[in-house]
Amino acid sequence: MARILLGVTGSVAAIRTPALFEALVGQGHEVRVVATEPALHFFDPCALGPVDPSGGPLFRDADEWAGDRYQRDDPVLHIAFRQWADLLIVAPLDANTLAKFTLGLSDNFLTCVFRAWDFTRPVILAPAMNTLMWQSPVTLRHLRLLLSDRAEGALPDSWELDAAAEIFARHAPRLVLVPPQAKRLACGDVGVGAMAEVAVLAETVRLWASTTESTEGLGHK
Ligand SMILES: Cc1cc2nc3c(=O)[nH]c(=O)nc-3n(C[C@H](O)[C@H](O)[C@H](O)COP(=O)(O)O)c2cc1C
Repeated sequence: MARILLGVTGSVAAIRTPALFEALVGQGHEVRVVATEPALHFFDPCALGPVDPSGGPLFRDADEWAGDRYQRDDPVLHIAFRQWADLLIVAPLDANTLAKFTLGLSDNFLTCVFRAWDFTRPVILAPAMNTLMWQSPVTLRHLRLLLSDRAEGALPDSWELDAAAEIFARHAPRLVLVPPQAKRLACGDVGVGAMAEVAVLAETVRLWASTTESTEGLGHK
């Protein structure tokens, strides 16, 4: 069993959050959800089940800023969560948060978790956005930058969006990019940009957990 942080951002694909949460819990993992405020427009937190003793499973920006004023020894939640988690999966990852991750902006709970992340632990990113947003040179620029910060060994001089997942896998195996799929998007456009299926994301996590369990062990039985 692993401790998984599920980051959720403001893509329409966030409507899949309850299904993804259930799939991960169904694999036996302990899952906490960190949602941006726009993400909460797309799903009902009650669909994740009752509030647990940690105050979860859903956490939002207000949880970082609890109480009237910080008191010495109060937990710093994004660091506490970073220490708690074996794996961070951000699904869906919208264009805005991709840009923030890339540039190091840390203006909410989720971006602070990513900025403070220990990158010896895996991160799975599942982008979801309109086709033209995905195909924009901005997306490629951000993915290239994100990879170059984490790559082991020399990167190819140039690579394109279609090759992104494979290049990430080869050069930054702990930074997993699950590419978006082509279909009719919620906005009516047809093309690449929809978040990968929940089953694909769940299988990515299952594979990681089974490999890690056998090679390193997961100490949260
Ligand atoms: C109905 C609706 C659907 C949206 N879907 C997406 C999307 O699929 N991908 C995306 O990158 N942005 C999408 N956006 C825009 C983001 O919600 C917006 O950029 C927001 O500021 C993201 O904030 P966050 O990254 O902090 O969650 C959508 C906005 C609305 C109103």
